[in-house]
Amino acid sequence: LTAAVATVAALVPGSAVGSPDRDRSAAPAAAAPAAGKPGIGDRYWPLDGNGGIDVRHYGIDVAYDFDAARLSGRATVRLRARNALSRFNLDLLLPVSAVTVDGVPARFSKPKQHELQITPATPLRRGEVVDVVVRYAGKPGPVGYAGERNWLADDDEVVTMNEPHMAPWWFPANDHPRDKATYDVRVTGPAAYQVVSNGLPVRRTVDGRRATSHWRATDPMASYLAFFALGRFDVRRGTRAGLPWYVAVSKGLPDSARRSTMRTLLQSDEVTQWLSKRLGPYPFESTGGLGTSLPVGFALENQTRPTYPGLGGGLSIVVHELAHQWFGDSVSVQGWRDIWLNEGFATFMEFAYAKTSLREVYRGYRDDGSDGIDSGFWRVDLTDPGKHRIFSDSVYTRGGMALLALRNRVGVKDFWRIMRSWSRTHRYGNATVGDFRAHAARVSGERLGAFFDAWLEAPRPPATTKANGFR
Ligand code: ARG
Ligand code: ZN
Repeated sequence: LTAAVATVAALVPGSAVGSPDRDRSAAPAAAAPAAGKPGIGDRYWPLDGNGGIDVRHYGIDVAYDFDAARLSGRATVRLRARNALSRFNLDLLLPVSAVTVDGVPARFSKPKQHELQITPATPLRRGEVVDVVVRYAGKPGPVGYAGERNWLADDDEVVTMNEPHMAPWWFPANDHPRDKATYDVRVTGPAAYQVVSNGLPVRRTVDGRRATSHWRATDPMASYLAFFALGRFDVRRGTRAGLPWYVAVSKGLPDSARRSTMRTLLQSDEVTQWLSKRLGPYPFESTGGLGTSLPVGFALENQTRPTYPGLGGGLSIVVHELAHQWFGDSVSVQGWRDIWLNEGFATFMEFAYAKTSLREVYRGYRDDGSDGIDSGFWRVDLTDPGKHRIFSDSVYTRGGMALLALRNRVGVKDFWRIMRSWSRTHRYGNATVGDFRAHAARVSGERLGAFFDAWLEAPRPPATTKANGFR
């Protein structure tokens, strides 16, 4: 069975098992067990994710105590050893009290802030699948990506915002988009509160003044897209064209924001349909969104259920986050340097929705001292933006312009064929910017090398030529 699984995986482009820069050199079955590497090999964050393991499923049970601002958890991580392992790591930021591997106590330590190192009583054989149970508790939050807050809580609401690598504030993860898994999430909190997470709710059980809500996500999901929120929410749900949707808005928002946010998020199913018409079938089991009252500062494309701050009436942010369901969530980056495939593509779908032209966007950036050349806008190389610039305006707006230009260059018909076949070919997998360049050239039958160099790499605004997609 293992061999069959490995063969199938090798045929799935970008799947964890078949991906090129994983350690395939690994050992024949009899080789001596070795220590799994502390990182999966991301160029920007070498310690993100972990070597030697492939997580199949996360069963996460957490309870949150608002008075103590404390999270306690018990996570069951079902993983497969990719080679014989004397020990392996998971990424976790909270203190750990116990670890078992298939029910047998294991030794563990926390050699670095993000790293949980686990030494099972007996080494794992190559291909072996085990259940690793981790018990942990603590106060989440102190560190975030680039000084932001990725764990937000006040006296009656909590929400997690994990991108790019803060999921370890609430569960032990192989925290890199290259290792996707399915999830069961159970959250316990005050019975008067509700829980929102990915996928669909399974059941809720009340025990005195506490309630536990169980959510399940059955499509492959990267750890940075797994989330939960606990608070007091207005909830609406339904089904449209066979696709369940679930929308929740915090009662903690001021009345008018609460109403406008609900009105806007209730259009998520329509936006999902609009996107499906252009990009091909929606990849997941449900859609919807969450509006939080916490000061999140940005929206995040959590799989099936993006999280938003309070919203006005505009739909462009909803278009952006739901476009990510195809670009980012289903087709994920191979490494964080490939972030253009997420943010440039989601921004492009906003442009397409608003019917914004390339010339309109370009005009604002061509040589404007505030936003343009002098600010470094055109000096960011979108094939390798640097870890401090993965969410920069260049990645979003220059990135979106590149696709507007591609549409002009290859024509509307070929362009959408490129986008649809891209989504289909790499569904639930991982891909690089280089993969997209090759794909676009193949599908359109055009030579696009100089075109992509101009839009993605050259440290200057592209000349307004036909070859660059201007018309
Ligand atoms: N991916 C999110 C979006 O564009 C933005 C995430 C920004 N993340 C951050 N840590 N600032 O929808
Ligand atoms: Zn985005």
